[in-house]
Amino acid sequence: MDLYQQGLQPLLFSALKADPETVHRQLMRTCAWLDRTVDQGLAQGLQRRLASSLQVEDPRLSQSLWGLSFANPIGLAAGFDKDGVATNIWPRFGFGFAEVGTVTFHAQSGNPQPRLFRLPEDQAALNRMGFNNQGAAAMAKVIAASLDRQARSYPLGINLGKSKVTPLEQAVADYVGSFQLLKTYGDYFVVNVSSPNTPGLRSLQAVEQLAPILAGLQAENTEGKPLLVKIAPDLEWEDIAAIVELAQAHQLAGIIATNTTIRRDLKTERIAATGNAPIEEAGGISGAPVRSRSTDVIRFIHQHTQGQLPIIGVGGIFTAEDAWEKLCAGASLLQVYTGWIYEGPWMVRRILEGLLVKMQEEGIQQLSEIVGQDDDKNQQAL
Ligand code: FNR
Repeated sequence: MDLYQQGLQPLLFSALKADPETVHRQLMRTCAWLDRTVDQGLAQGLQRRLASSLQVEDPRLSQSLWGLSFANPIGLAAGFDKDGVATNIWPRFGFGFAEVGTVTFHAQSGNPQPRLFRLPEDQAALNRMGFNNQGAAAMAKVIAASLDRQARSYPLGINLGKSKVTPLEQAVADYVGSFQLLKTYGDYFVVNVSSPNTPGLRSLQAVEQLAPILAGLQAENTEGKPLLVKIAPDLEWEDIAAIVELAQAHQLAGIIATNTTIRRDLKTERIAATGNAPIEEAGGISGAPVRSRSTDVIRFIHQHTQGQLPIIGVGGIFTAEDAWEKLCAGASLLQVYTGWIYEGPWMVRRILEGLLVKMQEEGIQQLSEIVGQDDDKNQQAL
């Protein structure tokens, strides 16, 4: 237990009875301020302090993927910095990369509040934010300004979604429109067709719908930026296989597995036992309940592609063990969201240090050696 878990987190979660979205908004305001004032004394001092207490620098954690250098495999998942207002700050928290968005072509306010709930007994969250964001043009402006202040020191992903006002039949133009505005500002891009909170969005995971979106984006992708697709944990195996094959046919760089789940039967007994948990609320569940399903999806994709398609693994990572498990299942990189909320800003450091200890125990020289190790072991056993 650290200072955050003992003091600040209970204060934020209960003593203040603070609405989770309000807490998040305040945190984002502070991060955006740090980003904007990077060249001023106070912010500079704070940033240096953050970096010195939260970063772990060790070449054994680093890897090169898609021509990008990742100092470590832990990234900030999409949905946290929806408008890309703090892109210079995330490495100071120890992240090896970050993904901003989901951004849509049109600015939109998202669903009515309340739309974010904590499920503390389950180490989970439930959200139906509905892609609240300022739109692709505004994000392009914000990121351009932050690049003027400071050169980027880590890979930044941009996660694209469909605007709510755009009919599903016009989804291609909507995704491509956002990509045109943002393509110079991201190091990789993600097609998000897996949020449960935009009506009909997940139907775009069907190959007939997804194929023209991927084709449209790749036609626009003249610089060959890595393009990934982010999938839901709730798909059937044959649908996942179809998406993976489509991704390979369209020269995608990888898959992000997974988004939140709409299932309510994962760890049902614990969720049901949570007196005031608004489990009947509509939305996607993240955190511990999605952990093992997300790992199974990663393992399936790795096996199905014989490890040929890189995977970013996300869902329920709180500890070094959770991270190790997803890497061994086949994820090359990892992302966190809910775990970071519960465990606090020291979580990334704790995970990275834990991974280094485990590497030492197992005689691993470079962390990337363990990616998909489960599969290799199974092969050897056959
Ligand atoms: C998310 N997530 C998400 N994903 C995405 O692709 N676009 C988004 O806008 C959002 N928004 C969002 C908001 C909130 C409040 C949460 C909790 C989550 C999903 C997120 O990126 C991740 O895929 C899942 O939350 C699973 O990871 P964790 O949270 O279990 O680490």
